[in-house]
Amino acid sequence: MASRTLHSRVHVIDHPLVQHKLTLMRKRETSSSAFRRLASEISGLLAYEVTRHHPLTPTRINTPMRPMTAFLLDGKKLVVISILRAGIAIADGIISAIPSARIGHIGLYRDRRTEMTVEYYFKAPRNMSDRTALVVDPMVATGHSAEAAIARVKSTSPKELVFICLIAAPEGVEYLHKYHPDVPIYCAAVDEGLDSSGYIVPGFGDAGDRIFGTK
Ligand code: URA
Repeated sequence: MASRTLHSRVHVIDHPLVQHKLTLMRKRETSSSAFRRLASEISGLLAYEVTRHHPLTPTRINTPMRPMTAFLLDGKKLVVISILRAGIAIADGIISAIPSARIGHIGLYRDRRTEMTVEYYFKAPRNMSDRTALVVDPMVATGHSAEAAIARVKSTSPKELVFICLIAAPEGVEYLHKYHPDVPIYCAAVDEGLDSSGYIVPGFGDAGDRIFGTK
């Protein structure tokens, strides 16, 4: 699958199927159910690229013709950690592609008084040290919640950590690169920037509201 690399650690997946689905998501008139389905479909395609170098285990199997050694991906070694709430739609698509992946969640909010990111929920599988963590959210805007989520997941000592989103803002990419230069970011687009309210432009609006129909 085609991918474009901006920063050494930012991989923009520019495959036509990904770009087509992203365009449909961006359209104002796309319904909530279509938006949710497209988010899930693109995420499955991003998972394809993210797992490109994931190790395979040789396994003896029997085809109807004869025994052979074939290769299996150990999905249990992958943990998809969604940043609540919009990350759920991304996790859903990745899990459709890798059904045996483990699932974790992190809930964060921004305290308007202190400007600090506060964690209100965290659950991940045990034994993270032999797993690859895929931290997911549809958007990286300022990068603050992604940075906090990555820091929290790092505290569980995963073997490897990758961040997956659909659209990133350059500001968020820079912020993540500053605090977590070791973490690769896979996305479908890096947009122009942020507006004065912190929304990505042109983006696709509020991802959570569009996924869950809560506007
Ligand atoms: N979060 C969203 O849902 N949309 C944006 O544009 C930025 C952050």
